[in-house]
Amino acid sequence: MRRPDPPFAHRYGTWPALALGRVSIGGSKMAEPTKTATLSLDGKSYDLPVYSPTLGPDVVDIRKLYDQADVFTFDPGFTSTAACESAITFIDGDKGELLYRGYPIEDLANNCDFLEVCFLLINGDLPNATEKKDFENMVMHHTMVHEQMQFFLRGFRRDAHPMSVLTGLVGAMAAFYHDEIDYSEPHAREVAQIRLIAKMPTLVAMAYKYSVGQPFIYPDNSLSYTANFMRMMFATPCEEYKVNPVLVRALDRIFTLHADHEQNASTSTVRLCGSSGTNPFAAISAGIACLWGPAHGGANEACLQMLNEIQANGGVDKIHEFIAQVKDKNSSVRLMGFGHRVYKNFDPRAKLMRETCYEVLSELGLQDDPLFKLAMTLEKIALEDEYFVSRKLYPNVDFYSGIVQRALGIPTEMFTCIFALARTVGWIAQWEEMITDPEYKIGRPRQLYVGETTRKVPNISVRK
Ligand code: SDX
Repeated sequence: MRRPDPPFAHRYGTWPALALGRVSIGGSKMAEPTKTATLSLDGKSYDLPVYSPTLGPDVVDIRKLYDQADVFTFDPGFTSTAACESAITFIDGDKGELLYRGYPIEDLANNCDFLEVCFLLINGDLPNATEKKDFENMVMHHTMVHEQMQFFLRGFRRDAHPMSVLTGLVGAMAAFYHDEIDYSEPHAREVAQIRLIAKMPTLVAMAYKYSVGQPFIYPDNSLSYTANFMRMMFATPCEEYKVNPVLVRALDRIFTLHADHEQNASTSTVRLCGSSGTNPFAAISAGIACLWGPAHGGANEACLQMLNEIQANGGVDKIHEFIAQVKDKNSSVRLMGFGHRVYKNFDPRAKLMRETCYEVLSELGLQDDPLFKLAMTLEKIALEDEYFVSRKLYPNVDFYSGIVQRALGIPTEMFTCIFALARTVGWIAQWEEMITDPEYKIGRPRQLYVGETTRKVPNISVRK
């Protein structure tokens, strides 16, 4: 018997059963505790189960601690807290390793394209030739957005930051796909995931075109995912757009490098927002808002601004003066693109990004680009400086990404939108994993309260 059309099929055409397998947590992988930790407090002892992961540190399960000992744990920046169980991405910060579903990022960046990586992150393994073709076909035939989306854009000032526009556009997508869809239904979630991967390039390109006052360029489904994005960004109706395969391959690799990264701030935002059962487009919009911050995805834009400022103030000769500012406790100056909460060694993405940077600059005849030379000199000096060495501060993914994106013709204020485009697949893979975890519940942290104790409201006549 033919599978009944999903409830919303009448509006957007029927969606065939997607060729998406499913690798969900599906019942905790934490089969049995491997050890026990004991907490001694106020003369009592509390045994806490310890679980061992397939990779990384053991975890002490404190889920019953409050019930047993009437105490909370305290970890405001989550520096020592595993917020969930996940099988998607693993980072070894000390070794500088990054795995997507067990595959090293270097192997994926050099041997796969971004849509293969999307399939991998969502489904748990790389697609075979048929699955790859079907997945590409599915994504590339859902690249258009509702024609009314352009009216949301018209409400923004032309000089609005593109990340504010993108946050609004993706949130607005919830308004097109919110009714009659039950996201507890796997097919509805699959459709939302394909729509998000497929439509983010279109929305990002629309945000850019709107900012420069050029007409929107509709998707061309005969092109590859990334070539289609570059055409929507840089083509005009007045002339044929020539795809440069070297630049397309470079941007496609940049998408792969940014696709997922464990429980970073924006992914944790998507999980917490999604844990209330909200619309997935709304949850992704929350992730975009979080990514915008300069401490997170906004660092690539901030890093290029930093390099431009050093260049404007004298370039290489001024690096030592800048580094002195960074080291000055009284200054809030940071070496943007350096340091990471998890990596205490080279971010493997930074090395791949530097290679990509060199490839693109060579292709464009810009290998003597002064900013690239400045960045490499800055990196060399910082890596030999005790301040950075002692704090294990190394280049992260954002250090070179601004230079290569600028060379690709992407304006600085669009860099984080590119990051958001690429990270969307990571966000929805993590969202799906959370939703399908039988133990998931709404996230609701507690606090260390340091405010007033209970007190009476004084009459206004006696208030000081
Ligand atoms: C991303 O989480 C992820 O996975 C994120 C991400 C992803 O893919 O999702 O990898 C993407 O966000 C990469 C990070 C991009 N941000 C930047 O490049 C901004 C600059 N970096 C910093 O702001 C900082 O390194 C963070 C925010 C990335 C990490 O900060 P932490 O882990 O909270 O470390 P910290 O602020 O406690 O710093 C420890 C010490 C401090 O010095 P002391 O107080 O010990 O003397 O290192 C110093 C900091 O002052 N420090 C820096 C520095 N980063 C940390 N000093 C100068 N320049 C820097 N960049």
